Amino acid sequence: MENVMVVGAGFMGAGIAQVCAQSGYRVFLMDTDPDGLEKALGGIKWSIEKFASKGFLKETPRTVLKRIAPETGLENASQVQWCIEAVYEDEELKLKIFEELDHRVPADTPLASNTSSIPITRLARVTQNPARVLGLHFFGPVPFMGLVEVVRGQKTSEEIFNRGAKFVQSLGKTPVKVNKDIPGFVMNRIFGAAFRECVDLVADGIASPEDIDVGMRLGYGWNVGPFEIADNAGLDTFVRVGRSMQALGEENLVAKSDLILKMVEEGRLGRKVGKGFYKYDKDGKKRAWNS
Ligand SMILES: NC(=O)c1ccc[n+]([C@@H]2O[C@H](COP(=O)([O-])OP(=O)(O)OC[C@H]3O[C@@H](n4cnc5c(N)ncnc54)[C@H](O)[C@@H]3O)[C@@H](O)[C@H]2O)c1
Repeated sequence: MENVMVVGAGFMGAGIAQVCAQSGYRVFLMDTDPDGLEKALGGIKWSIEKFASKGFLKETPRTVLKRIAPETGLENASQVQWCIEAVYEDEELKLKIFEELDHRVPADTPLASNTSSIPITRLARVTQNPARVLGLHFFGPVPFMGLVEVVRGQKTSEEIFNRGAKFVQSLGKTPVKVNKDIPGFVMNRIFGAAFRECVDLVADGIASPEDIDVGMRLGYGWNVGPFEIADNAGLDTFVRVGRSMQALGEENLVAKSDLILKMVEEGRLGRKVGKGFYKYDKDGKKRAWNS
C-alpha cells in the first residue's frame, strides 16, 4: 500500500485525504491546528458514511477511515510515496513548508502543491531537486469534483508530470495537463476573469448573486453558479487567492470592488460558517438572504 502525506487539513486537504483513502492509499493528514484536524476527521467520517449509505463505497466506512492518520508534525514524511501541500494560499508559508518537506520526503517522492495561483516554479526554487515538484490543483468539494489540473513547473521532469497524471487517475479523477506554469494556471484564470465581473456587477447593484447564479446555470449551462462556487470554496480563501494574484501582477483576474473583503470582515466566510452570498440551514440547505 502506498503512503500519501497531505499537509493542511482544511476544506481541500480533508477532501484530498478522503479521496486518497477511498482509493486505497494510506494517508498521513497533517495540520498544525489540532482542532482543525479533529474537525477535518469529523467531516471526512460524515462524508464517507454518506457515500456508503448511497452505495458508492466498495468497503466499509471503518476500513476507509482507518487508512487516515491525523498528525500535527511532519515526522512520517520520510515514509511517503506522494506528498501534497494544501495549506493557506500564502507564498511565504508554502515556501517554508516546501523547504522542510524537501529535507524529509524520500528523494524519489513527488512534491505537489494544491496552490490556486502561485507558479510551481516559485515553490520549487527552495528545493534541492525542482524536477520532482509539480502542481496538483484539485477542485472542491474534492470528493465530488472530477477534475485535477496537473501543472508542469519550468523544471518539473517529464516523468514526474506523467506520474502526476497517473496518480490523479488512480483517484478516479480526470487530469487536465497545464504545460506552462503561469499564475492561476488554466481553470482559475478562466473562472477569475468571469467571477471578477460577477462580483463587480453585484457590488454596483446591477444584479443579485442569486440572479447571476440562475443566469449562469440556465444561460451558459454551468452546473453550479459562480456565487455558489465561491461560498463552497470559502470567501476567506478567495481573499487570499485575490491577494496572491495581485502580488503576482494579475490584477485583471481580481474584482475591483472590495465586496468580498467586507463580507469576510463581517464573518460571512461562506458555507462553512452558514453564511456567505447565501445563508445555510443546519442541514446545509441554501437560502437567499431576502427569502
Ligand atoms: N477552497 C477551494 O475551493 C480551493 C480549490 C483549489 C485549491 N485551493 C487551494 O488549496 C489550499 C488550501 O485551501 P483551503 O480552501 O483548504 O483552505 P483552508 O483555510 O480551508 O485550510 C488551510 C489549512 O492549512 C492549515 N495550515 C496552516 N498553516 C499550516 C502549517 N504550517 N502546516 C500545516 N497546516 C497548516 C490550516 O490550519 C488550515 O486547516 C490553498 O492553497 C488554496 O488556494 C482551494
